[in-house]
Amino acid sequence: MKINILAIESSCDETSASVISDGKILNNIVATQSVHEKYGGVVPELASRAHQQHLVPVIKEAILSSGVPKSELSAVAFTKGPGLMGSLLVGVSFAKSFAYALGVPIIDVNHMQAHILAHFIEDPKPSFPFICLTVSGGHTQLVLVKDYLEMEIIGETMDDAVGEAFDKTAKLLGLPYPGGPLIDKFAKQGNPKVFGFPISDMSGLNFSFSGIKTAVLYFLRDNIKENPGFIEQNLNDICASVQFTLISMLTQKLKKAAKEYKIKEIAIAGGVSANSGLRTELHDLAEKFGWNIFIPKFEYCTDNAAMIAMAAHYKYLKGEFCGLDVVPEARLKF
Ligand code: KG4
Ligand code: ZN
Repeated sequence: MKINILAIESSCDETSASVISDGKILNNIVATQSVHEKYGGVVPELASRAHQQHLVPVIKEAILSSGVPKSELSAVAFTKGPGLMGSLLVGVSFAKSFAYALGVPIIDVNHMQAHILAHFIEDPKPSFPFICLTVSGGHTQLVLVKDYLEMEIIGETMDDAVGEAFDKTAKLLGLPYPGGPLIDKFAKQGNPKVFGFPISDMSGLNFSFSGIKTAVLYFLRDNIKENPGFIEQNLNDICASVQFTLISMLTQKLKKAAKEYKIKEIAIAGGVSANSGLRTELHDLAEKFGWNIFIPKFEYCTDNAAMIAMAAHYKYLKGEFCGLDVVPEARLKF
């Protein structure tokens, strides 16, 4: 019989379900929560409630469209963490009861590992060892990937995540949440050299993104005082300049990691890897340093259950299941 796994993702503000059969993703159903837009960030309590509303229809659609009957599911997988506790609880609780009713095992998946394993959904796939720059709304990590489930964090942010820096800048500019895609859009029409922002340099391979948020805040406050129409008149150039600074901070450490570990297989993962400026810069670096680069498809960059399913497949092959007493962990590490 085939290994068929239903996977559920509910760590933040995306409710998603996917069915994987013998390592092949059959679908990836995602319901995005628009309820947070007007608040400038994810409101945890609203996210959990929206997950409760979306979860059953999303799972139903995933199972029906996969053509795999419930009775042929081999396991149910879910995101154990890291993420928002209330949101995680919705997915974990459903996975437990569904698996118990079907009499199949459950598989707990680390969300950050799953972002990296999204690279194994489609060809071309990186070969081990490779370095992955994982950039999302909650994390910024440089990871040395030695095998499917063997990963080591070699650098990470000491404060804000880079996605947070994008979102907080967008909020200061009066743009709705999530601001990253909008900054990306306006940056395309702007000049990145018009405004200068400080590039923080942490020791080793670590990052810091809280300084730029404060720098943007004071920069806007001072300029608006002199010209109330400053943001409207310069939106594209402000976005391009901030984006350029954030990307420089990321690639500076990525280059350092590649050199230190003598690795030329380089991947990016997580929501911010959808950024077109980062993608272009990575292509340039690949040419310059002879890197083999791996950039996931847009739908596998932001939160999705296909990546959870992929991770679950490898855990199933190793017999790594968990008990029904498993609990979510908001700050789960590798
Ligand atoms: O991985 P993800 O979907 O969720 C987390 O696990 O956090 O990442 C969401 C983050 C948000 O901060 C969002 O603004 C950012 O990814 N993002 C982008 C782009 N698309 C999504 N940031 C910059 N440029 C983009 N095109
Ligand atoms: Zn994520």
